[in-house]
Amino acid sequence: MQKVDVIEHILRHTNHGQFVNTAGGSAWAPSNVALCKYWGKRDLELNLPVTSSLSISLGNKGAFIKIKQDQDNDADKYIVNGELIGSKTKFAKRLGKFLDLFRPHGVHYHIEVDTNVPIAAGFASSACGFASLVQALNNLYDWRLNKQDLSILARLGSGSACRSVYEGFVEWQKGDDYNGMDSYGVKLGYIWPELRIGMLTISAGEKPISSTDAMQLTVTTSPLYDGWINRTTHDLDTLKLALERKDFILFGEVAENNAMAMHEVMGASEPPIIYYLPKTIEMIAKVRSMRSQGIPLFFTQDAGPNLQLLFLAEHEAEVLQAFPDLEVVLPFADSNSEKIILVDENDVEIGSGEKLAAHVQGKLHRAFSVVILRDREGRLEVLLQQRSTVKYHSANLWSNTCCGHPRPGEDIITAANRRLREEMGFGVELKEVGKFHYRSKFLGVDLIENEIDHVLVGFSDLDDFLFNPSEVQSFCWIDLEDLQQDIKSSPQKYTVWLPQVVDLLLQEM
Ligand code: DP6
Repeated sequence: MQKVDVIEHILRHTNHGQFVNTAGGSAWAPSNVALCKYWGKRDLELNLPVTSSLSISLGNKGAFIKIKQDQDNDADKYIVNGELIGSKTKFAKRLGKFLDLFRPHGVHYHIEVDTNVPIAAGFASSACGFASLVQALNNLYDWRLNKQDLSILARLGSGSACRSVYEGFVEWQKGDDYNGMDSYGVKLGYIWPELRIGMLTISAGEKPISSTDAMQLTVTTSPLYDGWINRTTHDLDTLKLALERKDFILFGEVAENNAMAMHEVMGASEPPIIYYLPKTIEMIAKVRSMRSQGIPLFFTQDAGPNLQLLFLAEHEAEVLQAFPDLEVVLPFADSNSEKIILVDENDVEIGSGEKLAAHVQGKLHRAFSVVILRDREGRLEVLLQQRSTVKYHSANLWSNTCCGHPRPGEDIITAANRRLREEMGFGVELKEVGKFHYRSKFLGVDLIENEIDHVLVGFSDLDDFLFNPSEVQSFCWIDLEDLQQDIKSSPQKYTVWLPQVVDLLLQEM
């Protein structure tokens, strides 16, 4: 089975190529680091793994990709972090080969990549690259694919990319089917806000051998490979147990031992694969010495010389003192360190700001509320979501279908579709019906909402979709006018902004 067959199968119900968003498509995806590694393929063409793996997405470390069809040029154009890069570079060749699978009428593309992870240094740049690319294509061509299909498409670019379509902990279930339609990333519900990942860069240079080549050499020549399969299967279960119990010591031990085992297995290949540099060993010794002094600090290492340190917030100061160049990532504060668009009273952009800081300071910013409707015998019904128990404000309250903030440079419709997919698991055509300014202080948390809220409407008849349990705990359809009545009689059930959204809808529809 070839990649094209899988793509054809996934895109068969979309209008691939018939609709092109002239503004282009854009998407962001986090990088991820595996705590139980993917090392070895059972199918080289489709990147199907021998074992399942488990990762943590790296918060605000990742890639933002913008892609447009380019009618004026006869080759793709790649701009990475503001610089035009040659089409003969490894990076451009790899993306270009993947894009060859998506060229209606042989089109070429203009691709802009903004990334804060070093390319090809073992910090999983290909994972966030392919995960953001397929989601940007999804917006460009309005495929409206769900996360599962997007994860499969990302896997065709690079195996570990299938985990980067989600935030938080993700399990890549290896699947058994020959076509890989059951091999994709699944978001795990564990939340661990105190968890810290320290990126310890030992060398940002290119790896001596790519992970793709190295894992194949391991599978075909390492006498230890069978042992690796058994071990990883066991490690995955233990890791999930550690997450279930929030047992950091067990978590760290399994992750560290799994990484050590992967490097042992590849070290037994012919010729041996060695990613360690002398400095890597020195740093591993330092981690162990700190541990022997009672600081719960562990590491993991991917296919490269760099380390990712694992520790909890309470030890951040000591760890930073020992490793002053460490870049600390907060995997569960990602949405708070996201950038949003600051505006004036007329909704004119005046800059950007950190999401959490803007909410603490009550700075006026741009937001949107999506409302999905359906027609039931001439009456409109609204799809409501109940916010999950872990939302940073308004947890457990009922609200409109989904809400969010566009990122700097992102238009509202693209952002709204991104959030709709992330939260509710589907996308539809959306149209803006109006906007309003609202300001409110949340009880119990030091946050002030001060936003110009754009209300976007779409129609759908879906009754069954894969919503994201870390965002949403439940959903229901309710008659629009009944909702207005219920908000009046039981306002405590609903988010503070919902009444204004409903009033605006009833006025405009
Ligand atoms: C060590 O996903 O880069 O980071 O599927 O060939 O593109 P391809 O390989 P890739 O391999 C990642 C290997 C790893 C472990 C992991 O991320 O699970």
